[in-house]
Amino acid sequence: MSEPVIQSVIARRIWDSRGRPTVEAEIALSDGAVGRGIAPAGASRGSREAVDKRDGGKRFGGFDVQDALQGIRTEIAPALAGLDPFDQAAIDARLVALDGTPNKGRLGGNALTAVSLGLLHAAAASRGVPLWLYCLGDKPAIIPLPEIQIFGGGAHAGRRTDVQDFMVIAPRAKTFAEALEVTAEVYHSAGRIMAERGLLQGVADEGGWWPAFSSNEEALETLMRSIERAGLVPGEDVSLSLDVAASEFGHAGRYRLGLEKRELDRDALAEMLLQWCARYPILSIEDPFAEDDDKGFEQFTAAIGDRIQVIGDDYLVTSASRVREAARQHSVNAALIKVNQAGTVSEAKAACDEARGFGFGMIVSARSGETEDTSIVHLAIGWGAGQLKVGSFARSERMAKWNEALRIEEALSSKARFASLSEMPMRRQAGKSIEAGIVGAVDSPSTDGRPSGRPLDRAAALTERGYSGGRAQ
Ligand code: PGA
Ligand code: ZN
Repeated sequence: MSEPVIQSVIARRIWDSRGRPTVEAEIALSDGAVGRGIAPAGASRGSREAVDKRDGGKRFGGFDVQDALQGIRTEIAPALAGLDPFDQAAIDARLVALDGTPNKGRLGGNALTAVSLGLLHAAAASRGVPLWLYCLGDKPAIIPLPEIQIFGGGAHAGRRTDVQDFMVIAPRAKTFAEALEVTAEVYHSAGRIMAERGLLQGVADEGGWWPAFSSNEEALETLMRSIERAGLVPGEDVSLSLDVAASEFGHAGRYRLGLEKRELDRDALAEMLLQWCARYPILSIEDPFAEDDDKGFEQFTAAIGDRIQVIGDDYLVTSASRVREAARQHSVNAALIKVNQAGTVSEAKAACDEARGFGFGMIVSARSGETEDTSIVHLAIGWGAGQLKVGSFARSERMAKWNEALRIEEALSSKARFASLSEMPMRRQAGKSIEAGIVGAVDSPSTDGRPSGRPLDRAAALTERGYSGGRAQ
């Protein structure tokens, strides 16, 4: 039997988790296989991301996507008809050429993302295998380590906190299922504590608690209490992870913390974050500085990149060339991977591969505007990323993804390894010399190469704050 070709591309408007229109593309092949791709949407976006095409005007707040759908129907569908669905790279290159702009603004990053992902699904369906397996081929499977939001702030919660995501990682979990169990306990414990304190204001865009804190650090403190209240040990059973998303409150080396009504320069922000790393068991920090602050990233990674993961999201925008440049400058040690930041599956995969080549951590990530689509879970496994960021532990656009990971873990059973902290890049950075560029808040680097992510003075810092050696009293 001859190999199938692309038969049709259908575009439809569906609605995302914020009740906004988004693009779905449905690709049918000549053998009857069908695949659907859906574009998610960011709220705290990097300025170099692929740009979504939105209609503007008054209708649905300007977020409608009729023009993007029209572009799929009149330009993309005819251009793709009859092509080989298994040559994802060629089709993505065709989409990029058809758009013809550097930021994909003509046809829209949302249109291209939906079509590109839809094609990947159709090809997998035609082969009769799940998406993760289609992407993985015969490479060994790794079930990713999840980082899960407990408090949502920044652009996802009316800027209730300046820091956007307060997340947890379960470093001792032996399986994905166990990591979710730990998270469930912490998530609900955090909700109870906030309700008791009268700080609970509902949930943010990614399902994390929407807090009424009076400082950013109060969120960290509350997170520590939530972990203890759940009967777990901070820094042992549960570590912390932050997405500062600093482009949302800073540029040109100056940062305005709206919640605390103070402005910090680059060094003061670094000092604050380094102090947090000394006081709390933080394993990972994303976008600690604004996307235009190369110097901030470089100094920060030099100071602490051997002990924690420093992720570029808005900073790298899932661009292979940005990843290369960051590796040259040592400005981060990990890359967040979002298909719609790049605009096509192939470009996102290229960024992921580039990151792997430099020994970076790789975190496949959802957006704040999501749907029931679970593709990112498959991509994280299929691309061997090792880490997954989906948002919080509530709302079905998030839970659908966690649940999908559970199904895949079960299907793979002993054939897959569950990611551990070794997916994080600190081990590879250990021993690298520290440039005393910023502050002395963090002591000397670890030399044992353990990917613990714990500053050497952490035990002392914890004791000072009423913990003993990381153990709750
Ligand atoms: P966004 O945020 O999807 O709103 O851009 C997610 C993130 O910053 O990781
Ligand atoms: Zn981010």
